Amino acid sequence: VEPDVVTDVLIVGSGPAGASAALALSTYGVANIVVTRYASLADTPRAHITNQRTMEVLRDLGVEDEVVAKATPQHLMGNTTFCTSLAGEELGRVRSWGNDPLVQAAHELASPTRMCDMPQHLMEPVLVDAAVARGTRLRFSTVYKSFVQDADGVTVTVEDRLRGDEYTIRAKYLVGADGGRSQVAADAGLPMGGQMGVAGSVNIVFDADLSRYTAHRPSTLYWVLAPGATVGGIGAGLVRCVRPWNKWMVVWGYDVTAGAPDLTTEYAESVVRKLVGDDEIPVTVKSSSAWTVNEMYAQTYANGRVFCAGDATHRHPPSNGLGSNTSIQDSYNLAWKLKLVLEGVAGPKLLDTYTAERAPIGRQIVTRANRSIGETAPVFEALDGLSPQTPEQLWANIDARKDDTEAARKQRARLREAIAFKVYEFNAHGVDLNQRYASDAIVPDGTPAPGFDRDPELYHQPSSRPGAKLPHAWITSGTRTLSTLDTVGRGRFTLLTGIGGTAWAEAARAQDLEIATVVIGPGQEYEDPYGDWARLSEVADGGALLVRPDGYVAFRHATAAASDAEADRLLTEAVRRILGHG
Ligand code: FDA
Repeated sequence: VEPDVVTDVLIVGSGPAGASAALALSTYGVANIVVTRYASLADTPRAHITNQRTMEVLRDLGVEDEVVAKATPQHLMGNTTFCTSLAGEELGRVRSWGNDPLVQAAHELASPTRMCDMPQHLMEPVLVDAAVARGTRLRFSTVYKSFVQDADGVTVTVEDRLRGDEYTIRAKYLVGADGGRSQVAADAGLPMGGQMGVAGSVNIVFDADLSRYTAHRPSTLYWVLAPGATVGGIGAGLVRCVRPWNKWMVVWGYDVTAGAPDLTTEYAESVVRKLVGDDEIPVTVKSSSAWTVNEMYAQTYANGRVFCAGDATHRHPPSNGLGSNTSIQDSYNLAWKLKLVLEGVAGPKLLDTYTAERAPIGRQIVTRANRSIGETAPVFEALDGLSPQTPEQLWANIDARKDDTEAARKQRARLREAIAFKVYEFNAHGVDLNQRYASDAIVPDGTPAPGFDRDPELYHQPSSRPGAKLPHAWITSGTRTLSTLDTVGRGRFTLLTGIGGTAWAEAARAQDLEIATVVIGPGQEYEDPYGDWARLSEVADGGALLVRPDGYVAFRHATAAASDAEADRLLTEAVRRILGHG
């Protein structure tokens, strides 16, 4: 039977994973179709923390400026507050999301981009609009039903919800970006580890002018320690800023064994009132939904010509703000590989590196996000707030910390330490930026893994070793100042070298693969006036780095090649291996 529609890549889902896969593929000139279940994009704020690595991806895909213009800026994100309610007592704060002066410096040194707070209902239209403008064909109200694959492609049956009938789409590859209840991942039989539904939570979106409680301590997150706040949920009650300071969301837990509460407006308002702590302020509840905390990750992200990305492969709570970030980064890893294989430039083996590179990251972030929930407990413990007790006892414990006694002094110290420890959730720069890949698309250079000088979850450590992301350094070209990251990407490989690296540049030009050449040094197209690149590149002037379209170093030669022929041999071998021909 002839399929009704034909394309190169069919993407199921228009969330962060699907929308960014479509955007990257359309940017690279690959034909693609997106089908998505609902009649609109995300209509609730959902994921929002957008880290530097994601901003680098969006920069390469040409939408960074638009996201920055629409997002809440970094400096309004950073006073993560622990309190008994917004109007109640404050227990302490953590300088978060790069707003601690030392971490801020680390952020500035690590990347040309800044973190921001971009709620998902604003992010998705940016990604989708750009994707459609560049060629993506998007079908709303279209539900993935099933697929059948053979040696040449995948035939997918979808249901058109407007017409009520089904039709088939034939694609060379299928990307399942259909979220935490992924039917594509289930039909592909992707093996999963971990478990779903470990705790219950409710999101309530509402409008209220809360500036009197928040503008003086601007933050994305206000954590509330109130009676009942440790039941289910994400470690405590949460008031989250959607738009400063009049659009909000609260998160409140429920006992998953008892089932989700009835989400009436009355119930929603009572939760909002409890966390805000002010019965006078006008509140308009916009929507409520129940969800569960999951701890699940796929061990394999693909089955033949079917690839999954985003929550389809990693399901975890919002702690550390990793959901949409990791989803966008998955798709960015996959898109250029699909492009090169579809063009016949790379062999299908290149696609195996998607699981090899992204599955360990998925597992790591699922573990991190769930551990962060557990690390909120010491804040309660410091107030003796975990043992069963009446609300009066909890308030008395909280009050007791103001006493002039030895016990109160210890309590204050414990509370300070417990709150400070939450940097692992709110300032984990290393979790965001230290992702390293090991796969057949990375050519080892024989050097041992350098390890990390400091806690790898908290601190970013740049490296040019194959498998690491190209270090960011500000360089110049004429009067223009740009990042080394700005010289790579756009769907193509890049060779970076310096004075004495002519042999590498020529070898790059001789490859069957398009490789841009970047020469950095005095009198060259790019210069290194600050000496930052010389310090960070970890290669001599005549050495070379071959950087993949996703900004990862695939091959490194620390010194000049012995001869032109040697450079050609080494680079040709590396390219063969990376492209899955070796
Ligand atoms: P996502 O779930 O965003 O997208 C899935 C897409 O697939 C949707 O477009 C859907 O329509 C489509 N789809 C599903 N099944 C389909 C089918 N059979 N056929 C066609 N299309 C199909 N994270 C966070 O960090 N902080 C937060 O506060 C929240 N809050 C939150 C609330 C709610 C209600 C949800 C659902 C999720 C969150 N999250 C969150 C999680 C965050 O939204 C999530 O990590 C990312 O959106 C994951 O992006 P994906 O693109 O992988 O899936």
